[in-house]
Amino acid sequence: MPEDPLHRLYENIGDDGITQIVAAFYKQVPGDDILGPMYPSDEMEAAEERLRDFLIYRFGGSQKYVQQRGHPRLRMRHMPFAIDVNARHRWIELMTKALEQVEMSVKDRALMLAFFEHLATFMINRES
Ligand code: HEM
Repeated sequence: MPEDPLHRLYENIGDDGITQIVAAFYKQVPGDDILGPMYPSDEMEAAEERLRDFLIYRFGGSQKYVQQRGHPRLRMRHMPFAIDVNARHRWIELMTKALEQVEMSVKDRALMLAFFEHLATFMINRES
């Protein structure tokens, strides 16, 4: 069976790398004019943990996310949030900045960004 490149990436950066990326992303959210109001301000720590656990699960690590939240069904879970192309671009902008702050190979960073870009486009659920 061909190896999933995201699993190889996970072997390189581990739980620590993912934790750092998600922390760097969420640090920017409250001050963001588009994304800030969308995220629950009283639950930022819990939200950070959900994204972190999802990524660890998706990249081949601990199954905690699925055990706690069930099948991800991310598009459905994002329906309550008005995600247009601007929100999608902003999410990717913040994530790109987060990825720049964490040490990893150029190849791994590109792979991770491509993964996020693909999913973020899939999450668009409103016209601008
Ligand atoms: C396209 C722009 C996006 C916007 C505006 C957005 C916004 C949000 C918001 C407002 C939440 C609720 C925070 C919470 O309480 O957990 C959320 C949850 C979440 N998002 Fe996104 N998101 C976007 C893209 C993505 C992408 C690309 C991923 C995956 C890589 C992702 C993964 C998640 C996960 C795992 C949760 C928690 C789901 C749960 O278990 O309830 N999101 N997102």
